[in-house]
Amino acid sequence: MAGAGQYNLHSAPQHVASRFGLDLLERAASKLPLEPARGVVIADYGASQGRNSLLPMSVAIATVRERLAPPTPISMVHTDLPENDFAALFTTLRDDPDSYLRADPAVFSFASGRSFYEQLFPAGSVSLGWSSITVHWLSAPPTAIRRHIFSPLASTNERAAYAARAAEDWTQFLVHRRAELVPGGRLVIVGSGADAGGRSGAEGLLDLANDVLAEMVSDGALAPGVYERMVIPTYYRTREEFIAGLGAASVAEGLELESCSEDALSDPLWSEFQRTGDLDTYARAMSDFTRAFSEPSLFGPVAVRGPLQATADEFYARLTQAIKGRPERAASNWHLVLLSIRKR
Ligand SMILES: C[S@@+](CC[C@H](N)C(=O)[O-])C[C@H]1O[C@@H](n2cnc3c(N)ncnc32)[C@H](O)[C@@H]1O
Repeated sequence: MAGAGQYNLHSAPQHVASRFGLDLLERAASKLPLEPARGVVIADYGASQGRNSLLPMSVAIATVRERLAPPTPISMVHTDLPENDFAALFTTLRDDPDSYLRADPAVFSFASGRSFYEQLFPAGSVSLGWSSITVHWLSAPPTAIRRHIFSPLASTNERAAYAARAAEDWTQFLVHRRAELVPGGRLVIVGSGADAGGRSGAEGLLDLANDVLAEMVSDGALAPGVYERMVIPTYYRTREEFIAGLGAASVAEGLELESCSEDALSDPLWSEFQRTGDLDTYARAMSDFTRAFSEPSLFGPVAVRGPLQATADEFYARLTQAIKGRPERAASNWHLVLLSIRKR
């Protein structure tokens, strides 16, 4: 995600998405086996800069606290990749008026800067796991996508490679969570998924972005070789693909699916535009939102971006104009898959 706190500022759709999982999270937290002597560990897998975790983690803490009063400690561990902006995360936890740290002096926050495709915690130590809008990010792109940047719009063969990598990654994710959870512990996932036809609901926006990149190639603003390597390494699993991962022997022996449902997240930026009619603000907000999740993937981490920084600035400026020209095409209708999983 874009650093310097930019993801926190431009992630309204992800913020709304997390609300779809709150009931599930509360129910999962109310059923946890709790032992006052051990304390409780809650893991927030793929926390980014933390703003969108505040409400779900407050719900989890409040639910646990109904059964386990202070001073029993609750350890909250936010995990993300090493390059994540952890400074923004801890500043948010300290300064945001909605931070769970303000409400409960016996909650302690920590971070883990490792991929969730590895084991992050000692075996049998996590009571409750939460992960919202994260597991569509793959461990690595399995192949280039020659004429696009978004796997739902890749060629058949390219899509097959993404589907295979996504299946492997999901199994790895579950195998490691199986090891980490305490018996009876729960994992709640708000997944950015796909409908039965493999559509995420954001094809219009990402196709518009791809058109802008193609236009930059044709007028010499972007080298063709750079464009061909550009990809957002995500895959949007259908409900069936999510469920299939729980059937793998290495997973099924230890984890069972408690519930799986689907929902649609209508675009909060589009709703705001419908309310205000302010096209400039809508186009900028949509472009900033796209930048916050796509810039490091498309243009590289800031530290190594070099001359591509100016190209990135130009791309997102052009994207803003393109959205102004086709505002309805950029509006997304994200497909969510919600899962609650129990450790046997
Ligand atoms: C779209 S953000 C979602 C952040 C937050 N959960 C929310 O609800 O807004 C996806 C996050 O997943 C993280 N992520 C992607 N792949 C990861 C991996 N393999 N291990 C840990 N975190 C990962 C990204 O760095 C990013 O911060």
